[in-house]
Amino acid sequence: APDSEAQPPLLGRRVVVTAGGTREPLDPVRYLGNRSSGKQGLALAEAAAAAGAQVHLIAGIMDVTAPDLPNITAEHIETAAQLRAAVERATDGADLLLMAAAVADFRPADYAAQKIKKTEDGTNPVITLERNPDILAETVQRRAQQGTGPTVIVGFAAETGSADAEPLELARAKLLRKGCDLLVLNQVGENLVFGRDETEIHILSSPELSDQAQDANRGEPVSMRGTKRQAAEAILAA
Ligand code: CTP
Ligand code: CA
Repeated sequence: APDSEAQPPLLGRRVVVTAGGTREPLDPVRYLGNRSSGKQGLALAEAAAAAGAQVHLIAGIMDVTAPDLPNITAEHIETAAQLRAAVERATDGADLLLMAAAVADFRPADYAAQKIKKTEDGTNPVITLERNPDILAETVQRRAQQGTGPTVIVGFAAETGSADAEPLELARAKLLRKGCDLLVLNQVGENLVFGRDETEIHILSSPELSDQAQDANRGEPVSMRGTKRQAAEAILAA
């Protein structure tokens, strides 16, 4: 059929996208942050909107500005705690969660209400960190326990690999640990992925999803290289 007659594939779907990095305050003028550009998350929001979805974008700190499109609503957050609350609110009854945000794993355990000053005696401050909640894993748990929350949950991982594990192995383990339906792996290193427009991704599906797939490639990752927009389209098609 000609394109004009085809239904947009995500028409009527409610999609929640998290994008960008979180920022964890240390004192009124300082924070812990990360290098997430937010580009992949924005590309996901735009691609989902173009596919007909009603998109809610939960935007952390990013280099790019959220697109002004009629079917994208945007909400801005800074800390992981704010992101957690926003995800819980927005995913109730949603069809899809795309968890592209780079969530700080740790936050300063204590917030100093006054700016931290240098001391005369030359002692240096020690910053104690504590763990942030795992928002993705919590959302998976909430869905399992309460049946609310998104029908499909997609996590994202950037892995450099380590001395004893390849990025793909780390991503497989992460997919199982988090319990999400799909995990998108970005291979990262110096000058790879962060802030760039091009990316290389591998889409891994949970064993449950793979078992349902009929094709011969089940269990194998779907890999592609291209712009972040092309990657977003591949993720939505998976
Ligand atoms: N994530 C999350 N909450 C956190 C940390 C991560 O929801 N506190 C989500 C990210 O948004 C991403 C996925 O989990 O979709 C994987 O993030 P990643 O940092 O790769 O996973 P971690 O479990 O934090 O593992 P690592 O120790 O390798 O950073
Ligand atoms: Ca992490």
